[in-house]
Amino acid sequence: MANKEDFSDKLTSYLKEKGFVYGPEPEIYGGAAGFYSYGPLGKRLKNNIENVIRKNFNYEGFFEVEFPIVTPKAVWKASGHLDGFNDPVILTEDGQDSYRADKLIEEFTGIQADHFSDEKLIETIKEKGIKAPNGKKLALKIERQSLMMKTTIGRNQEAYNRPETATTTYLPFKNYLQFFRDKFPFSVFQIGKAFRNEISPRQHLLRGREFTQAESQTFLFPEMKKEWPKFEEIKKETMPFWTEKMQKKGEEPKQITMQEAMDKKILKNKAYAWHLFLSYKMFVDFGIPKENIRIRQHHSDEKAFYSDDTWDVEIKLRSFGWVELCGISDRTDYDLKQHTKHSNEKLTARNPEGVEMTPHIIEIAFGVDRPFFSLLDLVYDEREDEKRTILKMPSSIAPIQIGIFPLVKKDGLAEKAIELNSELSKNYLCYYDASGSIGRRYARMDAVGTPFAITIDYDTLKDNTITLRERDSMKQERIKIEELKKILEAKING
Ligand code: GAP
Repeated sequence: MANKEDFSDKLTSYLKEKGFVYGPEPEIYGGAAGFYSYGPLGKRLKNNIENVIRKNFNYEGFFEVEFPIVTPKAVWKASGHLDGFNDPVILTEDGQDSYRADKLIEEFTGIQADHFSDEKLIETIKEKGIKAPNGKKLALKIERQSLMMKTTIGRNQEAYNRPETATTTYLPFKNYLQFFRDKFPFSVFQIGKAFRNEISPRQHLLRGREFTQAESQTFLFPEMKKEWPKFEEIKKETMPFWTEKMQKKGEEPKQITMQEAMDKKILKNKAYAWHLFLSYKMFVDFGIPKENIRIRQHHSDEKAFYSDDTWDVEIKLRSFGWVELCGISDRTDYDLKQHTKHSNEKLTARNPEGVEMTPHIIEIAFGVDRPFFSLLDLVYDEREDEKRTILKMPSSIAPIQIGIFPLVKKDGLAEKAIELNSELSKNYLCYYDASGSIGRRYARMDAVGTPFAITIDYDTLKDNTITLRERDSMKQERIKIEELKKILEAKING
């Protein structure tokens, strides 16, 4: 088995070669760390992942909204990001290179250090003899670097590219009240770009300077958190909980039911529990194996400045170990109160008892790039004995779902295949390919995760049947064209 670095190098060059991810961009100018582009298959896969999120949120009655990325300084002063959103930087002794101190510790020792104070970071670096990845000695001093990416509106108005979609989702609060007719709870979400001036972006798409988030915000009153009717639907479901206590004791995560998590006071309330489960379910829908998922509670000294309670969905990758993909936070009334104070607009509403107050917010904060990378990391299957690589991508999310091949181009086979391609393209992502041997065409499709391939041959012209071949088993069946749609529907969406 290749080590993690070998595997991540192999995977990232594979993703480039097959048209998933290019960069750092702009490549032809040398590239700027932390910026990537999605190629033809990558963009499709990213869209498919976003659509799983969108579909789940829509199903639960959440509404999608979109707010501008560029936002005046006042917003970020109010949200607390301008003063409090920074990372600990450590320089090499010669001052030439800079690194994120907590990440260096994590990479070097496996200790999670993002909640360490500056003193503790230095102490750990000294104690463990940590050096820069290039072997240079580190200067034992922490500096704080803001993650905010500055820009200008017009001639000189200071503004920032948003570091999260969340804050911008709160700003139209008064307009939401009109749309939702003052009825609580209500939920909205945004899928869009966010920017962070990461100190030393590494680990490919996992830590970009420009990335996509998909964040939902549920507005509710505190008393609604206790009684959340939808909790009944999920109370018997299980999740792999990893509480702060278990982490400190060195224990492994444990599968328990949502009800048990409530009874044992592992989770504070039913509304939060329901949001946490919804997030977990989406990762299962992306096709991430359950054994690679854990739900990690933030340590009390680790939580973001706005959060009363946060748990992360973490996924175990072959390339980079356990990685946070989504955070679920009870942001209380922090945000709306801050924006009330700074904007002088009253962002309040009446609770069911008619008392005017500031609503609370429960947030599901997904990134899109990390689930994208994680999925590819886990489906990459290099079969040395068979001399081929396949991506075992779930069929519902694959960037090409069906490859369609005429055995040869002549005698009307190509025309028949083109006809079937346009028919199936109405419902599926199809790819017509008429060049090379059939074996080569199958291999090309396997290599990019296409779960099904259809071959049109001379028998097709006689009895209207085709060969349907499945990627993982390589099994081939003869099927009548009139039955094909039903069979594909069951296999792809079933
Ligand atoms: N609104 C809350 C918030 O932004 P976060 O944990 O900082 O919370 C949410 O970010 C998600 O955004 C993360 O779980 C991750 O998937 C994604 N994300 C954050 N920083 C990222 C980066 N530099 N590159 C790629 N994805 C990132």
